[in-house]
Amino acid sequence: MEPIIAPSILASDFSRLGEEVRAIEGAADWVHVDVMDNHFVPNLTIGLPVVTSLRKATTIPFDVHLMITDPQRWAPAYAEAGAYNVTFHAEACDDPVALAKTLRAAGAKAGLAIDRDTPVEPYLELLPHFDTILIMTIKAGFGGQAFMPELLGKVSDVRRRVAVNDLEIRIEVDGGIAADTIERAAEAGADAFVAGTAVYGAADPAEAIRKLRALAAGRMGLA
Ligand code: DX5
Ligand code: ZN
Repeated sequence: MEPIIAPSILASDFSRLGEEVRAIEGAADWVHVDVMDNHFVPNLTIGLPVVTSLRKATTIPFDVHLMITDPQRWAPAYAEAGAYNVTFHAEACDDPVALAKTLRAAGAKAGLAIDRDTPVEPYLELLPHFDTILIMTIKAGFGGQAFMPELLGKVSDVRRRVAVNDLEIRIEVDGGIAADTIERAAEAGADAFVAGTAVYGAADPAEAIRKLRALAAGRMGLA
Protein backbone atom coordinates (compact mmCIF):
# COMPACT_ATOMS: atom_id res chain seq x y z
CA MET A 1 0.00 0.00 0.00
CA GLU A 2 1.25 3.48 -0.87
CA PRO A 3 1.50 6.14 1.84
CA ILE A 4 -1.03 8.96 1.87
CA ILE A 5 0.42 12.38 2.64
CA ALA A 6 -2.17 14.90 3.80
CA PRO A 7 -0.80 18.41 4.38
CA SER A 8 -2.78 20.39 6.93
CA ILE A 9 -3.74 23.87 5.79
CA LEU A 10 -3.83 24.92 9.44
CA ALA A 11 -0.15 25.77 8.97
CA SER A 12 -0.74 27.66 5.71
CA ASP A 13 -1.40 31.35 5.09
CA PHE A 14 -5.17 31.73 5.57
CA SER A 15 -5.19 34.94 3.51
CA ARG A 16 -4.09 32.91 0.46
CA LEU A 17 -5.82 29.56 0.98
CA GLY A 18 -6.51 28.89 -2.71
CA GLU A 19 -2.87 29.41 -3.68
CA GLU A 20 -1.63 27.45 -0.69
CA VAL A 21 -3.68 24.44 -1.73
CA ARG A 22 -2.64 24.75 -5.36
CA ALA A 23 0.99 24.75 -4.22
CA ILE A 24 0.63 21.12 -3.11
CA GLU A 25 -1.30 19.91 -6.16
CA GLY A 26 0.41 16.98 -7.83
CA ALA A 27 2.34 16.22 -4.64
CA ALA A 28 -0.28 15.77 -1.89
CA ASP A 29 -2.75 12.89 -1.81
CA TRP A 30 -5.31 14.65 0.39
CA VAL A 31 -5.60 18.13 1.83
CA HIS A 32 -6.27 17.99 5.57
CA VAL A 33 -8.74 20.58 6.83
CA ASP A 34 -8.83 21.15 10.60
CA VAL A 35 -12.25 22.37 11.71
CA MET A 36 -12.21 23.58 15.34
CA ASP A 37 -15.20 25.04 17.13
CA ASN A 38 -13.82 26.61 20.33
CA HIS A 39 -15.87 24.03 22.31
CA PHE A 40 -14.45 20.60 21.65
CA VAL A 41 -11.03 22.25 21.54
CA PRO A 42 -10.14 25.76 22.75
CA ASN A 43 -9.06 26.87 19.29
CA LEU A 44 -11.29 28.23 16.52
CA THR A 45 -10.45 27.79 12.84
CA ILE A 46 -12.60 27.43 9.75
CA GLY A 47 -15.86 25.76 8.85
CA LEU A 48 -18.25 24.82 6.10
CA PRO A 49 -18.26 28.05 4.02
CA VAL A 50 -14.48 27.91 3.67
CA VAL A 51 -14.57 24.23 2.75
CA THR A 52 -17.25 24.91 0.15
CA SER A 53 -15.24 27.76 -1.44
CA LEU A 54 -11.91 25.99 -1.26
CA ARG A 55 -13.29 22.88 -2.93
CA LYS A 56 -13.67 24.94 -6.09
CA ALA A 57 -9.98 25.88 -6.00
CA THR A 58 -8.54 22.36 -6.21
CA THR A 59 -9.09 18.80 -7.30
CA ILE A 60 -7.19 17.33 -4.31
CA PRO A 61 -9.54 15.22 -2.15
CA PHE A 62 -10.47 16.86 1.16
CA ASP A 63 -9.71 15.11 4.41
CA VAL A 64 -11.85 17.00 6.90
CA HIS A 65 -10.91 16.63 10.57
CA LEU A 66 -13.77 17.82 12.73
CA MET A 67 -12.65 18.84 16.20
CA ILE A 68 -16.15 19.88 17.16
CA THR A 69 -18.89 18.97 19.59
CA ASP A 70 -22.11 17.50 18.24
CA PRO A 71 -20.67 16.05 15.01
CA GLN A 72 -24.00 14.23 14.45
CA ARG A 73 -25.46 17.63 13.69
CA TRP A 74 -22.64 19.17 11.65
CA ALA A 75 -20.62 16.43 9.98
CA PRO A 76 -23.05 15.38 7.20
CA ALA A 77 -22.92 18.85 5.62
CA TYR A 78 -19.18 18.39 5.01
CA ALA A 79 -19.89 15.17 3.17
CA GLU A 80 -22.56 16.95 1.14
CA ALA A 81 -20.07 19.74 0.38
CA GLY A 82 -17.90 17.14 -1.34
CA ALA A 83 -15.35 16.18 1.30
CA TYR A 84 -13.66 12.90 0.39
CA ASN A 85 -13.24 11.82 4.00
CA VAL A 86 -14.99 13.21 7.07
CA THR A 87 -13.42 12.38 10.43
CA PHE A 88 -15.12 13.14 13.73
CA HIS A 89 -13.91 12.55 17.27
CA ALA A 90 -14.91 9.46 19.24
CA GLU A 91 -14.99 11.63 22.38
CA ALA A 92 -17.67 13.86 20.86
CA CYS A 93 -20.11 11.24 19.60
CA ASP A 94 -22.39 8.74 21.40
CA ASP A 95 -23.16 6.68 18.33
CA PRO A 96 -20.12 6.63 16.03
CA VAL A 97 -21.45 3.78 13.90
CA ALA A 98 -24.68 5.61 13.11
CA LEU A 99 -22.77 8.73 12.09
CA ALA A 100 -20.36 6.69 9.96
CA LYS A 101 -23.36 5.23 8.12
CA THR A 102 -24.80 8.69 7.56
CA LEU A 103 -21.50 9.98 6.17
CA ARG A 104 -21.12 7.02 3.85
CA ALA A 105 -24.70 7.44 2.66
CA ALA A 106 -23.86 11.07 1.88
CA GLY A 107 -21.03 9.87 -0.36
CA ALA A 108 -18.00 10.41 1.88
CA LYS A 109 -15.56 8.10 3.58
CA ALA A 110 -16.06 7.97 7.34
CA GLY A 111 -13.26 8.57 9.81
CA LEU A 112 -12.98 8.12 13.57
CA ALA A 113 -10.47 10.23 15.51
CA ILE A 114 -8.93 9.21 18.83
CA ASP A 115 -7.48 12.05 20.90
CA ARG A 116 -4.37 11.87 23.09
CA ASP A 117 -6.11 10.81 26.31
CA THR A 118 -8.54 8.31 24.77
CA PRO A 119 -7.71 4.60 24.70
CA VAL A 120 -8.32 2.91 21.37
CA GLU A 121 -9.35 -0.55 22.65
CA PRO A 122 -13.07 0.24 23.06
CA TYR A 123 -13.21 1.35 19.43
CA LEU A 124 -11.40 -1.56 17.76
CA GLU A 125 -14.63 -3.43 17.21
CA LEU A 126 -16.08 -0.44 15.33
CA LEU A 127 -13.32 -0.43 12.70
CA PRO A 128 -15.34 -2.29 10.03
CA HIS A 129 -17.72 0.69 9.91
CA PHE A 130 -14.96 3.16 9.11
CA ASP A 131 -12.70 3.94 6.15
CA THR A 132 -10.10 5.84 8.17
CA ILE A 133 -9.04 5.97 11.80
CA LEU A 134 -7.09 9.02 12.93
CA ILE A 135 -4.76 8.47 15.85
CA MET A 136 -3.70 11.81 17.31
CA THR A 137 0.01 11.96 18.07
CA ILE A 138 -0.55 15.18 20.06
CA LYS A 139 -3.50 16.60 22.01
CA ALA A 140 -5.91 17.91 19.37
CA GLY A 141 -6.33 21.67 19.16
CA PHE A 142 -3.19 23.35 17.85
CA GLY A 143 -0.62 22.90 15.11
CA GLY A 144 3.10 22.98 15.75
CA GLN A 145 3.13 20.75 18.85
CA ALA A 146 5.79 18.16 19.58
CA PHE A 147 5.15 14.59 18.40
CA MET A 148 4.32 12.16 21.23
CA PRO A 149 5.90 8.77 20.40
CA GLU A 150 4.19 7.15 23.41
CA LEU A 151 0.90 7.37 21.48
CA LEU A 152 2.16 5.07 18.72
CA GLY A 153 1.15 2.02 20.75
CA LYS A 154 -2.42 2.84 19.68
CA VAL A 155 -1.35 2.78 16.04
CA SER A 156 0.19 -0.67 16.54
CA ASP A 157 -2.96 -1.91 18.28
CA VAL A 158 -5.07 -0.79 15.33
CA ARG A 159 -2.62 -2.24 12.81
CA ARG A 160 -2.76 -5.63 14.54
CA ARG A 161 -6.56 -5.66 14.50
CA VAL A 162 -6.63 -4.61 10.84
CA ALA A 163 -4.28 -7.46 9.96
CA VAL A 164 -6.12 -10.10 12.01
CA ASN A 165 -9.54 -9.16 10.67
CA ASP A 166 -8.28 -8.27 7.19
CA LEU A 167 -9.96 -4.85 7.32
CA GLU A 168 -9.82 -2.16 4.68
CA ILE A 169 -9.08 1.01 6.57
CA ARG A 170 -6.44 3.73 6.46
CA ILE A 171 -4.54 4.31 9.70
CA GLU A 172 -3.80 8.02 9.85
CA VAL A 173 -1.58 9.90 12.29
CA ASP A 174 -1.85 13.60 13.06
CA GLY A 175 0.40 15.87 15.09
CA GLY A 176 4.10 16.60 14.92
CA ILE A 177 4.63 14.49 11.80
CA ALA A 178 7.86 15.60 10.11
CA ALA A 179 11.02 14.16 8.56
CA ASP A 180 12.33 13.14 11.98
CA THR A 181 9.13 11.40 13.17
CA ILE A 182 7.29 9.99 10.14
CA GLU A 183 9.38 6.82 9.97
CA ARG A 184 8.51 5.86 13.55
CA ALA A 185 4.81 6.36 12.78
CA ALA A 186 5.11 4.24 9.64
CA GLU A 187 6.92 1.49 11.53
CA ALA A 188 4.12 1.43 14.08
CA GLY A 189 1.66 0.77 11.27
CA ALA A 190 0.41 4.13 10.04
CA ASP A 191 -0.21 4.51 6.31
CA ALA A 192 -1.66 8.03 6.12
CA PHE A 193 0.22 11.03 7.48
CA VAL A 194 -1.03 14.52 8.26
CA ALA A 195 1.67 17.19 8.25
CA GLY A 196 1.07 20.88 8.84
CA THR A 197 4.22 22.68 9.92
CA ALA A 198 6.50 20.19 8.15
CA VAL A 199 4.88 21.03 4.80
CA TYR A 200 3.76 24.65 5.02
CA GLY A 201 6.72 25.71 7.14
CA ALA A 202 9.05 24.45 4.40
CA ALA A 203 10.44 26.71 1.68
CA ASP A 204 9.11 24.26 -0.94
CA PRO A 205 5.94 22.51 0.29
CA ALA A 206 5.75 20.11 -2.66
CA GLU A 207 9.35 19.02 -2.12
CA ALA A 208 8.69 18.56 1.60
CA ILE A 209 5.77 16.25 0.73
CA ARG A 210 7.94 14.17 -1.60
CA LYS A 211 10.56 13.75 1.13
CA LEU A 212 7.95 12.71 3.69
CA ARG A 213 6.47 10.23 1.23
CA ALA A 214 9.85 8.63 0.54
CA LEU A 215 10.62 8.32 4.25
CA ALA A 216 7.22 6.78 5.02
CA ALA A 217 7.33 4.39 2.07
CA GLY A 218 10.71 3.11 3.19
CA ARG A 219 9.33 2.06 6.59
CA MET A 220 5.79 0.92 5.74
CA GLY A 221 4.93 -2.72 5.94
CA LEU A 222 7.49 -3.29 8.68
CA ALA A 223 4.93 -3.26 11.52
C1 DX5 B 1 -4.16 19.78 15.41
C2 DX5 B 1 -4.54 19.33 14.03
C3 DX5 B 1 -3.41 18.97 13.15
C4 DX5 B 1 -2.37 20.04 12.94
C5 DX5 B 1 -1.07 19.34 12.78
O1 DX5 B 1 -5.15 19.49 16.33
O2 DX5 B 1 -5.41 18.22 14.07
O3 DX5 B 1 -3.89 18.51 11.89
O4 DX5 B 1 -2.60 20.85 11.83
O5 DX5 B 1 -0.07 20.28 12.73
P1 DX5 B 1 1.45 19.86 12.82
O6 DX5 B 1 1.73 18.95 11.68
O7 DX5 B 1 2.15 21.17 12.72
O8 DX5 B 1 1.64 19.19 14.15
ZN1 ZN C 1 -5.93 17.43 12.06
